[in-house]
Amino acid sequence: MNGVHKTIAVLPGDGIGPEVTRAATKILSDCAAAFGHSFELIEYPFGGNAIDRLGEPLPAATLAGCRAADAILLGAVGGPKWDSLPLAKRPESGLLGLRGGLELYINLRPIRVRQSLAGISPLRPERVRGCNFEIVRELAGDIYFGAHERRRDNGIESARDLAVYSETEIERLVRYGFERASARRRRVASVDKANILATSVLWRETVTRVAKDYPNITVEHLYVDNAAMQIVLNPTQFDVIVTANLFGDILSDEAAALAGSIGLIPSMSRSRTAKGALYEPIHGSAPSLAGKDVASPLGAILCAAMMLRESFGLAAEADWIDAAVDRVLEQGYRTNEIAEPGSHIVGCTKMTECIRAEMADSAQHAERYGWGV
Ligand code: IPM
Ligand code: MG
Repeated sequence: MNGVHKTIAVLPGDGIGPEVTRAATKILSDCAAAFGHSFELIEYPFGGNAIDRLGEPLPAATLAGCRAADAILLGAVGGPKWDSLPLAKRPESGLLGLRGGLELYINLRPIRVRQSLAGISPLRPERVRGCNFEIVRELAGDIYFGAHERRRDNGIESARDLAVYSETEIERLVRYGFERASARRRRVASVDKANILATSVLWRETVTRVAKDYPNITVEHLYVDNAAMQIVLNPTQFDVIVTANLFGDILSDEAAALAGSIGLIPSMSRSRTAKGALYEPIHGSAPSLAGKDVASPLGAILCAAMMLRESFGLAAEADWIDAAVDRVLEQGYRTNEIAEPGSHIVGCTKMTECIRAEMADSAQHAERYGWGV
C-alpha cells in the first residue's frame, strides 16, 4: 500500500464541537489503518474554550498550528456564555480571524439530498429528489470584514457595517465556481443584489467578464431574494451557485434544510490550493444539545470524507466513508433531528459506531474481493 502522511490540526471548539469532532477523528484513524496512511492529529484550543483558558478565541499557537498543517478539522464555536462579549472578542471573531488570517476565501457547501432522506425534507420528495448542487461562497470579504461601527449622535445610537469587494477578490472566487461547474453539469448561477448594491454591480460585471473564459458553461444571474425563492420552488435547477459572503451564509442554511438537516452538511474553506484547507460542519455549536450525546456526527464525518477527497486526493477513501453513511441511513439509524416514524433513533456515539462498523465490513469485503466489487 502506498500510504500518505498528513498533519491535521484539530480544533474541536465549543458546544457539540468536541463530540462531533471526536467522531470525525475516529473515522480518520480507521481510514489510516485500513489504507496504510498516517494522519497526525494535533489538537488546538479555539473559540470560547480558548477565551476561557487563554483569553482569546484564536491564540497565536492555534493559528501557527493551522498554518503548518496539511488540513484543518474544526467542530463549532460559540455559546451563550460568550454572547455578551463585544463582537471583536467573541468566539465567532476567532473564526473570522482564521478565515481572514489563512486567506480562506473559498467556502464550498455541497447540498445533496440523499435518497434515504428524501422523506424528511421539508419539501415534497418529488421536488427534492436528485437535488445536488454546490454553494461556492466568498468567505474572506464583504460586510463580514468591513468596519463595524457604532456611534451616538445627540443621544441617538446608530450603527453601520461596511461591505467591500475588490474585483480581484470576486474574480478569484468566481473562477473557482466555474472550475467546479466544469467538472459537473456546467451551470453557474451567480447570486447578487445588483439592483441595489454597488458591490453586487461589480460582482455581476466580474462574473460576466470571467464567463467569457468558460464558453461551455451556462451562466445566469439571480437576485438574492429570487434565489432564496428558487431554492425552495425548484432546487434541482441548480448546479453551482456562486455568491458573496453574507448571501452565501443565509442561502446555505436554507439549502441545508432541504437536504433534511443542517447537521448533515460538511464544508470546505480554502485558499488558492486545497493544501491547508479547513473542514467544518455548517451546523453551529448547538449549546442546548452539548454533552447529551444526541448531536448528529454526520456533518463532521462527511467533513473527514471531504478532506480526504479535496485536500489529500484520496477519492476511494472518501467514497468508502460516504457509502457507509448511506448504508447506515438506509438501515434506518437516525439521530433525533432526522428521525422518521419507525426509525431506529441513536445518539452521536452510536451513530458513529454504526458507520465505523459498516466501514470495517466493507474493508473486510474489499480485502477479500478488491475495492469496488
Ligand atoms: C457559518 C456561520 C458563521 C458565519 C458564524 C458562526 C460566524 O454561520 O459558517 O455559516 O456567519 O460565517
Ligand atoms: Mg451560517
